[in-house]
Amino acid sequence: MGHMEMNVLQRIFKGKRVLVTGDTGFKGSWLSLWLHELGADVCGFALPPEKEDSHFSLLKLGSVVRHVDGDIRDLKQVQAMVDGFKPEVMFHLAAQAIVRVSYQEPKRTFDTNVGGSVNVLEAVRTSNSLKAVVYITSDKCYRNNEWVWGYRENDVLGGHDPYSASKAAAEMVFAAYQDSFLASKKDFGMASARAGNVIGGGDWAQDRIIPDCIRSLKEGIPVVVRNPLSTRPWQHVLEPLSGYLTLAAKLLEDPKKYSGSYNFGPKVQSIKTVKQLVDQSIAAWGHGKCEVAVQANAPHESGLLHLNCDKANQLLSWYPLWDFDRTILETMKWYKQVLAGQSAMAITKGQINGYMESA
Ligand SMILES: NC(=O)c1ccc[n+]([C@@H]2O[C@H](COP(=O)([O-])OP(=O)(O)OC[C@H]3O[C@@H](n4cnc5c(N)ncnc54)[C@H](O)[C@@H]3O)[C@@H](O)[C@H]2O)c1
Repeated sequence: MGHMEMNVLQRIFKGKRVLVTGDTGFKGSWLSLWLHELGADVCGFALPPEKEDSHFSLLKLGSVVRHVDGDIRDLKQVQAMVDGFKPEVMFHLAAQAIVRVSYQEPKRTFDTNVGGSVNVLEAVRTSNSLKAVVYITSDKCYRNNEWVWGYRENDVLGGHDPYSASKAAAEMVFAAYQDSFLASKKDFGMASARAGNVIGGGDWAQDRIIPDCIRSLKEGIPVVVRNPLSTRPWQHVLEPLSGYLTLAAKLLEDPKKYSGSYNFGPKVQSIKTVKQLVDQSIAAWGHGKCEVAVQANAPHESGLLHLNCDKANQLLSWYPLWDFDRTILETMKWYKQVLAGQSAMAITKGQINGYMESA
């Protein structure tokens, strides 16, 4: 397969001590379970899950992998976590991850995404156990020129809204720590990962399109779309996660060669408008209606944005595996089955295995 063989990943991660910041979140919960399935010794560090129906809670992940409640804004806590657990690999995902929330709480967004990331890198700098770090930012770290070309890893950083600016700043912090301290650290590699909008089961966040869709469909009311014509590079949550895993594996293999920044996005065929995504999700659900309600003074959200993934293709042999149709189908299937009372653990595991079999 183009992707790293799953038995190779198993061989690499089996028994490895892996720290995941943000394991109570949407992507972190999928990643922690996947790592556990690969045989890793996983420990998560994050604020407690916000909702009872969070993916982390539905999976009862706290009893499957180790989890420590903690705040990345507090250096002492981060340092104690890293010094105590002595991870060999770390995935840093903890963040205030919602654009709209960043308009309401810009300070918390910067404190978490920039200050928190500084704390994480301070702990990395002084750790003598870590061999590989994958540092998650976003496709929104690029200055958005609203052009048709995909962004490349060496394009200019920037951000209009506080969330995007915080992720661009987190990238600058990453580069400064890399250049000033970590590039010369022996047997150690570090990479930043920039992925686009992910969808998949288990996301219940406010102001994200699929969770908004599910809430409306469940109640039998129309799905209201604010920005129907915005295009996004939609991808299933397992796609960037497979990129992060592959990247960590490569960093362990040859830390200096693979250190740097990588985009993980879908094929251009998956660049669709919000309206197309909603219409197709409703079709997969079986019934429902979509209503367009453009707000006159809605906060600015970026329009056209997609990633050029040549670097991940060439250096990591990473390619997306699920097309737009499969991505939507798997996502809606997850919600339908869980809402019908099936075990989230069984469904999530089934989708991880299904994804690995697609490789
Ligand atoms: N979901 C997407 O479409 C998307 C797209 C691009 C990048 N990302 C990035 O991927 C990462 C994960 O996103 P997600 O969708 O899972 O977000 P999420 O909101 O579901 O989860 C965020 C996680 O960070 C933790 N967190 C927040 N503030 C914290 C703090 N002060 N201390 C410790 N933990 C804290 C939360 O507890 C949670 O575990 C984030 O860095 C996000 O910016 C997400």
